[in-house]
Amino acid sequence: EHLQSLKVNTQRLMEDIHYTSRWGTGEKWGEKPTETGVSRLALSDADKEARDWFIHATEALGCHVTIDEMGNIFAVRPGVKNDKPPTFVGSHLDTQPSGGRYDGILGVCAGVEMLKVLADNWVETEYPVGVVNWTNEEGARFPISMMSSGVWAGYIPLDTAHNAKEVHPGTTTMGAELKRIGYMGKMPCSHESMPMAAHFELHIEQGPLLEMSNKKIGVVTGVQAYKWLQVTVKGRETHTGTTDLKSRADALLTAAKMILHSHKLATANNALASTGILHLKPGSTNTVPGEVTFTLDIRAQSDEAVARMEHLINHDFHKIASGENVGGLNPGCPLDALNTGCTPGLPCTVTIKEFFKSPATNFNPLCIDAVNRAAHSVLGPDSQDLVMEMTSGAGHDSVYTNKRCPTSMIFVPCREGVSHNPAEFCKDEDCALGAQVLLQSVLRFDRM
Ligand code: GLV
Ligand code: MN
Ligand code: MN
Ligand code: MN
Repeated sequence: EHLQSLKVNTQRLMEDIHYTSRWGTGEKWGEKPTETGVSRLALSDADKEARDWFIHATEALGCHVTIDEMGNIFAVRPGVKNDKPPTFVGSHLDTQPSGGRYDGILGVCAGVEMLKVLADNWVETEYPVGVVNWTNEEGARFPISMMSSGVWAGYIPLDTAHNAKEVHPGTTTMGAELKRIGYMGKMPCSHESMPMAAHFELHIEQGPLLEMSNKKIGVVTGVQAYKWLQVTVKGRETHTGTTDLKSRADALLTAAKMILHSHKLATANNALASTGILHLKPGSTNTVPGEVTFTLDIRAQSDEAVARMEHLINHDFHKIASGENVGGLNPGCPLDALNTGCTPGLPCTVTIKEFFKSPATNFNPLCIDAVNRAAHSVLGPDSQDLVMEMTSGAGHDSVYTNKRCPTSMIFVPCREGVSHNPAEFCKDEDCALGAQVLLQSVLRFDRM
């Protein structure tokens, strides 16, 4: 019927994606993004520009725009009936310190394109539809993942979010930056103030599975579990020229063993473990580091697997700090692998603090079904070969919306599975296919 023939405009969608990448080409954290890269940390001046663009674009398309006290921006297009909450399309405009122009941005721009298609074709939906830009999804500048959808869902306290300190250089807070760029809205940040009938999110896969299997659309059924830990190792600052190896409590050497061990634990437990931030004190060529802090991002398909990793990390890191061997985990990994060739030194201490967790997520069957049907109708006769169900390795705001309203996601392939990298790339035709499936998913849900 008529609605199934509605088509997104590929060129117009890509123009928005490329146009918005102009905000975030400056230096950040000492790195200048390459030609395709974007550096648009949450609540930076560049983020403010992108937000202003989003508001102008959606208001020009007849939306009513509301901003909440986390700076989440909700653009709502009325339906024929307005006694039910809007069906939202959402994602984020913030990026990693050296990110690309697709992660998050594709989802928001596809939402804006949906509004344009509806307007061009004089379509009135049964119920309102909306597009939401969530604040600080990346958790790069303020280190809580999916922060503002988390506050909206009631899982992260507003105070915790407003008081979150920026990672670098650490001089300001989320709340102060919201005020500085004029995006601390008046509406309470809550699913009660801004209820949703559903939330659909289009995103690049950020991994290689679709591309490797020659698929065009991933129907996302869930998201793996993850947990972020901060590890602090304390040793003793001493002179590098006068302190023999046996008399050192080297916090960095100890941390290095821990990071290596976390990798081995991940290998043995079908999990992931990554260190992305590491600081050492005092940071001098000729002083043995006395204190090291580093982050660990632990991920696995099940909550149990993440809990097991956390248990092993706690158990083994204390042993490593005290200089004990932690044993072989894998065939071919000798029992004393961590200490082979190392001179036993003096013990260090370790403390481990969790600062974020997100349990495994299963998306809503109705929404998954809407995406599945939309994908098969958009791709036509060959769709069996081009669509696959999959889970997400990355976190997304949909994790939190799923706790308060029916939610699911659509993935499209990205080149070599690379993301969180300026080289991130998604073909125009794949961006447009994803946007087409998104549009049709929303229209299906509107009439369900
Ligand atoms: C969320 O962006 C994540 O870290 O996966
Ligand atoms: Mn993203
Ligand atoms: Mn990201
Ligand atoms: Mn993400």
